[in-house]
Amino acid sequence: MEKKDFLQITDFSTDELSKLFDLAAEIKKLTKEGQCPTPLAGKSFGCIFHKPSLRTRISFEVGISQLGGQSLYITKNEIDLGARETIEDAGRVLSRFLDGIVIRTFSHEDVEKLAEWSSVPVINALTDFTHPCQVISDLLTINEHLGSYEGKIITYLGDGNNMARSWINAARRLPIEVRIGTVAETHPGKLVEIAQSEGANVKVIHDPVAAVEGADVVYTDVWASMGEKDQAKSREEKLKAFQLNMELFKHAASEAIVMHCLPAERGREITHDVMECEQSVVFDQAENRLHAQKAILVTLAG
Ligand code: CP
Ligand code: NVA
Repeated sequence: MEKKDFLQITDFSTDELSKLFDLAAEIKKLTKEGQCPTPLAGKSFGCIFHKPSLRTRISFEVGISQLGGQSLYITKNEIDLGARETIEDAGRVLSRFLDGIVIRTFSHEDVEKLAEWSSVPVINALTDFTHPCQVISDLLTINEHLGSYEGKIITYLGDGNNMARSWINAARRLPIEVRIGTVAETHPGKLVEIAQSEGANVKVIHDPVAAVEGADVVYTDVWASMGEKDQAKSREEKLKAFQLNMELFKHAASEAIVMHCLPAERGREITHDVMECEQSVVFDQAENRLHAQKAILVTLAG
């Protein structure tokens, strides 16, 4: 059987995504009953991290262990991917030892190259371009809180970054409306036109109130991502009208939920009271990283 990677949401079909959410829900239930299956027994996974991580690293390592497998945390200090030797060579060697590779790095092209040269599944744990594992967890969380993601309006506020693009990709496969509320300088790029040309319901809106009006989910992320923290000040000036505060949130649907991939910078992209309000599901999202990624691991390598 040909190996399959997960580099973007669009690597899965609509039907495959639906099955993935069912599997994640089932694995979550079994885990909570103390009966997590162990289809990864005897298998080893390399977790390559070139950026910091709380949620992604720990949920992957714990998830692999709960599924019976073994994980190795690999930083720049160990293999210095692409510098000590080429990605082409490293991918072929790693594939001789490992049953799967999880990678968080800067360049999406590097991850594509690693996937091309690896004969085992490669999972994108965040690049500057996308963060697909996060949105899989978020959609599972939306199913739990709103019954289903189908037909929902998801408003993403702030920087047109890897999270914004992951939501755009989700709209290319799923029946959801995705509104990106941002300014022209932080537009998420040409993926918007690609999605729209495929018929996806994706809009970029420059008026924060119009972006949030009637939304079922109001989502935000940091204004300066890892690797670009030096731009925090200028982003704050550009994006301050898109801060997720109570004043803006009241324009959403009455039962709307608040989401943030975390880590959050309270007082910048989101206020403390919105983070802590009853409609905030940010910690459920964080927990679901574990369950959703276990479903991804089982689907690709189980
Ligand atoms: N949301 C998320 O990916 O968090 P970490 O950067 O802590 O992994
Ligand atoms: N956009 C953020 C997401 C962190 C999970 C970053 O890349 O830093």
